[in-house]
Amino acid sequence: MTEATVRVMFVCLGNICRSPTAHGVFRHMVAEAGLDDRIEIASSGTGDWHIGKPPDQRAASAALKRQIDIDDLRAQQVTADDLRAFDYVLAMDADNLASLQTLYQATADARAEPSLFMRYSTAYRDQSVPDPYFGGEQGFERVLDMIEDASSGLLADIRQRWPDLD
Ligand code: 4NP
Repeated sequence: MTEATVRVMFVCLGNICRSPTAHGVFRHMVAEAGLDDRIEIASSGTGDWHIGKPPDQRAASAALKRQIDIDDLRAQQVTADDLRAFDYVLAMDADNLASLQTLYQATADARAEPSLFMRYSTAYRDQSVPDPYFGGEQGFERVLDMIEDASSGLLADIRQRWPDLD
């Protein structure tokens, strides 16, 4: 049997709030499913302001309250090579998706067409994850609620596309 490695990248604007949260939540879910050697997870931002920085403290604290540790993550900017390498490139909001689509059009041999992460959600289907950066703590809780919901749907989609993953 061929060892399939599925690659998933979450993308937001700064890669310090929403996409590292998604990275951490999905990483936790994948580890609990025993699939951490089969599913590679990454996150990035469409912008370059925070490259090399750890997640926003408010995002890290909110995640830790749900037993998700994201302190090891460091911000990076999405590249054309990412679009060539990842099976899923999942945007947090419609603006991120528009930026990714522009990059996708300019990238030869891109692998997966970028899409909205919330396409995999049941409770928040096809919604944008609101940018929590300029808001209060409540915004970070909503980010986590939305991401937890869509993560289950994403894992189910992966299992459907790669039935021999386990
Ligand atoms: P993120 O949040 O895209 O969820 O990481 C933001 C982080 C930083 C900024 C905007 C959004 N910023 O303008 O610096």
